[in-house]
Amino acid sequence: MKIVGLTYDLKTDYVFKDGDPPDANAEFDNPSTVEVIAGAIESQGFKVKRIGNASRLFETINELGVDIVFNISEGSSGRNRESQVPVLLEMVGVPFVGSDALTLGATLDKVMAKKIFIAENIPTPKFFEVKPPDPQLNMDHFKFPLFVKPRFEGSSKGLDDGARVENMEALQKRVEYIIKIYKQPALVEEFISGEEFTVAIVGNDPPQVLPVVQIEIDGRLKLGDMFYTFARIQSDKLKYVCPAPIDKKLFKKISDIALNAYNAVECRDFGRIDFRVDAKGNPYVLEINPLPCLSTEDVFPLVAREIGLTYEQIVGRIINCALLRYNLL
Ligand SMILES: Nc1ncnc2c1ncn2[C@@H]1O[C@H](COP(=O)(O)OP(=O)(O)OP(=O)(O)O)[C@@H](O)[C@H]1O
Ligand SMILES: [Mg+2]
Repeated sequence: MKIVGLTYDLKTDYVFKDGDPPDANAEFDNPSTVEVIAGAIESQGFKVKRIGNASRLFETINELGVDIVFNISEGSSGRNRESQVPVLLEMVGVPFVGSDALTLGATLDKVMAKKIFIAENIPTPKFFEVKPPDPQLNMDHFKFPLFVKPRFEGSSKGLDDGARVENMEALQKRVEYIIKIYKQPALVEEFISGEEFTVAIVGNDPPQVLPVVQIEIDGRLKLGDMFYTFARIQSDKLKYVCPAPIDKKLFKKISDIALNAYNAVECRDFGRIDFRVDAKGNPYVLEINPLPCLSTEDVFPLVAREIGLTYEQIVGRIINCALLRYNLL
């Protein structure tokens, strides 16, 4: 029986520091999510060995005794945090499920990812970056409303109703807030008013694009100026609708762009791509998540069901994709 090591970061392990925003541990997993994933892996005929976070992995790296690692660790801090576990495993030659350090670093950093998308003709909202110590706002070719987010965060960190700004004063304030509280540059994008979608992909050679999922907020699919915030994720105002009730043409367009984005950043085994579609039906990639949330309340179990797989089976399929890549199947 193959042994699968599990690397993860627990919300309960995070110690809040002075000046931390309330969403500082948002990306980390609940112990129950880790247990559910461990259970799913075991149900697929593997033995699970819980390793823990990157520091624990570092301490135990020479005595892991696993065939492959299933990594859902978000890492400790900085824009390379998601790369910490993969790079350690690469160093000692231990196979792991999911994308490698380069892909994780280049995508957690949304500016880097957008540069790759632009080079590959993948539509993404127009943007500029505001960096300390000289936070100059160059508004040439930009129109309000704009959207301000931290350059390298996930789980909607730094996003509340104030993220969408309509004038210079609000923009200036928001940029300063992101730089000060999140200690990183602010990414300013044109705000895409319309609808929102997310697409999960599993596998390699070729990857399988799963049915497009639409985001519903407060019972509405036509979101217009509404968007996803940290507070909404915590509430029950948000629903995933699968498959998205949209015409075939848009469904295919979104699926094709999702696959291009997955290939552009060289995602492996699984990933999820987030979109907004404007009122004219033009899709824009907001970001790609090579380490998407696998909690049972998230989109992966939902899309799995849509293609006739249980949650456990989709987790098994992701591991098998990785084992196949390493010729271990
Ligand atoms: N340019 C934009 N126009 C309109 N809405 C946006 C834009 N960028 C982000 N949003 C809204 O903010 C949400 C979070 O943005 P994004 O996906 O870039 O950040 P994230 O924190 O990495 O997300 P996740 O919660 O998926 O990890 C989006 O789902 C969307 O609702
Ligand atoms: Mg997102």
